[in-house]
Amino acid sequence: MLYLPMFKETLLKAVEAGAKVIQQYFHTQFSISHKAGINNLVTEADHASEKAIFEVILNKFPDHSLLSEEKGAIESNSNYKWIIDPLDGTVNFAHGIPICCVSIGLEIDGKVEMGAVFNPFINEMFYAEKGNGAFLNGLKIGVSQQQEILKSCLATGFPYVYPKEEKGPADTFSSLVKKGIPVRRLGSAAIDLCWVAAGRFDGYYEYSLHPWDSAAGALIVKEAGGKISNFNGSDYNIYENGLLSSNGLIHNELLKVVNEYEI
Ligand code: IPD
Repeated sequence: MLYLPMFKETLLKAVEAGAKVIQQYFHTQFSISHKAGINNLVTEADHASEKAIFEVILNKFPDHSLLSEEKGAIESNSNYKWIIDPLDGTVNFAHGIPICCVSIGLEIDGKVEMGAVFNPFINEMFYAEKGNGAFLNGLKIGVSQQQEILKSCLATGFPYVYPKEEKGPADTFSSLVKKGIPVRRLGSAAIDLCWVAAGRFDGYYEYSLHPWDSAAGALIVKEAGGKISNFNGSDYNIYENGLLSSNGLIHNELLKVVNEYEI
């Protein structure tokens, strides 16, 4: 694609601009407000990071569309849409826990073609573009080789407003941990996905996500050789709810668990 280097440059500049802002706010007295759900927080840093990211992108591509966690959709007629989480892991951030990041994916003609996730607190920059692999700080990464779910290390997240259904994310979590399977809850979906891509987690699933949580991370997992699906096992679409990601080898077993079957 002709403009790929230009897009990559802007993408990396934008995640870095957002990350610089969140670093500046970390451990300061920033204001916090609540969205739907008492612990669904948004801080001054989320807004300031979003503003810095918008400036970088719109300065270069003023006619592109944006979809961002705090400002929502800013649509134009463009085929290009930047999907932005200016601070993924807001609850961690608000509690001084440095497991948070900036995540941006670039969708072209409805498909995410490029994505970057940057956690400035441990200086980890994940990047992928379709067909060209996934990278951590410039080095190629790949998913784990674990073949057994019982020997896996998994990750998940929970929604701020717990679903009313009889069976839900806590039941899946419970069924996994009762089998002795370690399931981590980092509090940042974008980082969870990148850690699957880097082979640290063998799988990660979450019942309820937004496009900005997964746009970049899902591509990074795929480009690292992993698998992403919805809870039916079909192709994942960032605009739908359930996401299951893995090294590919434990995918079907994990699918059974999220669909309430025994391992
Ligand atoms: C949240 C985090 C969390 C996940 C939630 C997301 P935010 O994003 O990614 O890990 O469990 O579903 O909403 O609110 O920190 O940007």
